[in-house]
Amino acid sequence: MAFPTETVYGLGADATNDAAVRSVFEAKGRPADNPLIVHIAELHQLENYSKDVSDKGRKLAETFWPGPLTLVVKRTNIISSLVAAGLDSVAIRMPDHPVPLALIASLGRGMVGPSANLSGRPSPTLPAHVITDLGGRIDAIIDSGPTLIGVESTVIDITTEPPLILRQGGLTREEIELVIGPVSLSQDRDSLKKSPGTQYRHYAPRARVMLTPEGDIPEIIRLRSELLAQRLLVGCIVQRKLAGSLPQNDSTIVWDGGLEEFSRILFGALRELDETGVDVIIVEGVKEIGLGAAIMDRLRRAAQT
Ligand code: TXA
Ligand code: MG
Repeated sequence: MAFPTETVYGLGADATNDAAVRSVFEAKGRPADNPLIVHIAELHQLENYSKDVSDKGRKLAETFWPGPLTLVVKRTNIISSLVAAGLDSVAIRMPDHPVPLALIASLGRGMVGPSANLSGRPSPTLPAHVITDLGGRIDAIIDSGPTLIGVESTVIDITTEPPLILRQGGLTREEIELVIGPVSLSQDRDSLKKSPGTQYRHYAPRARVMLTPEGDIPEIIRLRSELLAQRLLVGCIVQRKLAGSLPQNDSTIVWDGGLEEFSRILFGALRELDETGVDVIIVEGVKEIGLGAAIMDRLRRAAQT
């Protein structure tokens, strides 16, 4: 069953039931070596599923849960190795949304919740996105309208010192560092191995995505003309202040309200432009500060060919 969270829609199943967990991998077409997040509703559930949680980890949980933060911790055997994809760690998060919190409370156990998209596609921020990807493959969706944050949770490995951000997301590095001091950011091959999900192509619409620097109107115009000359259909995602320099039509999506708005609309915009049938989507990038870091991470992955 798909459920809303404050970040993106997830695909839920009992985290202690191997058959249910297997069906989640199946419905998403997710490789078995990419582990799932276990969603919890109360802090004591962290103790059931993890061991040796560091003081910094505990501090993060107390400060930011419920919220868009996922902690990678050492796992106990209550979590099956299927959920953890064979690793000796498990990813745990407490979502800030009444629906999953109620589901977990009534289940009385942790609930796995990968994003409710087909593997490799942009995460769903609307029930319609879930239906497009998983309609006929899952039993139900709980519809709570659009999600608030729009990018997934930040994943941080707290088994290492300093802690290591494996996936940037809805909680910024700056906010984390205010509470526990400096953390590192996974970019090297070693840590790619540690966060198996990040090695796959991700967030990809069917159309090709091309990323341009923030505010670079001449570059967008140049690229666009070049693509149009090749008889390609082109869509754009840009900030309002640039939009005046571009022709306004169904293939231009404009955002206006800061990085919070951009992260909220990003995945939906990629899907929407895909549906208009464009061949290429030009996206104006943003500075990698605050939420901009997670946004640029998703855009770079979407632009990977
Ligand atoms: O915001 C979110 O986190 C959403 C909502 C639904 O909660 N869920 C989500 O799950 O994005 P998913 O499965 O799409 O992404 C989980 C990420 C993957 O990149 C996975 O590889 C990583 O977390 N991960 C899970 N368990 C891990 C572990 N034990 N060690 C390292 N990385 C892990
Ligand atoms: Mg995902």
